[in-house]
Parts: sequence; C-alpha cells; structure tokens
Amino acid sequence: SDSSRVSRIQSMDWQTLQTEVASCQQCGLCQGRANTVFGVGDSAAPWLFVGEGPGYNENLQGEPFVGAAGQLLDNMLRALGIARGQRAYIANIVKCRPTDDNGRDRPPSAEEVAACLPYLQRQIALIQPRMIIALGKTAAVSLLGMSPETPVGQLRGRAHRLNGIPLVVTYHPAYLLRKPADKAKAWQDLCLALDHFSPE
Ligand code: URA
Repeated sequence: SDSSRVSRIQSMDWQTLQTEVASCQQCGLCQGRANTVFGVGDSAAPWLFVGEGPGYNENLQGEPFVGAAGQLLDNMLRALGIARGQRAYIANIVKCRPTDDNGRDRPPSAEEVAACLPYLQRQIALIQPRMIIALGKTAAVSLLGMSPETPVGQLRGRAHRLNGIPLVVTYHPAYLLRKPADKAKAWQDLCLALDHFSPE
C-alpha cells in the first residue's frame, strides 16, 4: 500500500534510498529516462537547495543543475560563500525528467510530485540541513504543502519552517535567466536566508 511504501522509505539509510530511487517505477516519468537524478553534494550539508526536476542535460548526466541554470545557481552558492559539493546539497522535487508531447521540459504533475516527494522528505530527514532554499514555485509549494496557484512573490520575503528547519523561497535560476531584472530580489532572498541561518 501507499502508506507502507512511505514508511519503508522513512526507515531507509542514504545508500538504500539511493538504490531505491535508481530503480523507481512509481510514476510514468520512469519511462524513457536516461538517469534518475538523486542529488549532489555533502549528505550532511547545512544548506539544501531544491529545484523542480531534471531537464535535458540533467537526465543525460544524472546530476542536478548541470545546464545554464546550474551556472547561475553556482553563482548564487558563491554569493553565500559555499560551493557545490562542500557545504551544500542540491536536489529536486522529482528525480526524473518531465517532458511534454513535444519532448520539451514541463513542470511535474501533482501525481508525479506526490509519488516522488517521500524520497526528498527522507533525504531532508537524513541530511538535517540548517537552511532549505526552495528554487521556484514547484519546490516551494510542494515542500510547504501549498496550493500550486500560490505565486512565488507571495512566498518570498519571510522564513518559513519545514519540520523546524528554516526555509526561504526564491526565484528559480532558469526564471532569472529569462528575467535578470529579478536577480536583485533573489539577492535579497539569499541575504534573508543568511540572516536566518544558524550553524548548529
Ligand atoms: N532545473 C531544475 O529545477 N532542476 C535541475 O536539476 C535543472 C534545472
């Protein structure tokens, strides 16, 4: 059943979880995937960044944020004084690439998010980050359990909490590539996250 699957996931160690995800067939996104994208970085990292889902390059390489949006994310990490693989872990809401009928990236459906979210929730429980940055609407509303209609602008500017862990919402780096004028607001969001970050 669904609840026994979730409780099984909730008891997994990191390695078991990784193996489980690699062979997951819980939703249609498993069809035609090249790779699952579990995440990258230090599994005890104080900073957790959560995106939406793998795109074209991420599906091929099995690593999150390796394309153009990833370079902007790396700049955001640098602004916080952290580097990929050091004090940060990077993951997505869904671990397989969602595509539309034309083979283009699309946001994951509610069903796909529901099927995949237990994996990320287990990753969060194991990582125990000190701060979570939700990159864009899909990450924010999925993690906070809010309506998918909620605009990112309405979730920015304050520290939310997820199981006691502070969570700050900012724009998705792919959005910032299309709308660079909003980078100033993303910068404010990162400052807010630094303000609410407490090591231990
Ligand atoms: N966009 C995302 O949300 N995640 C990735 O891993 C790459 C692009």
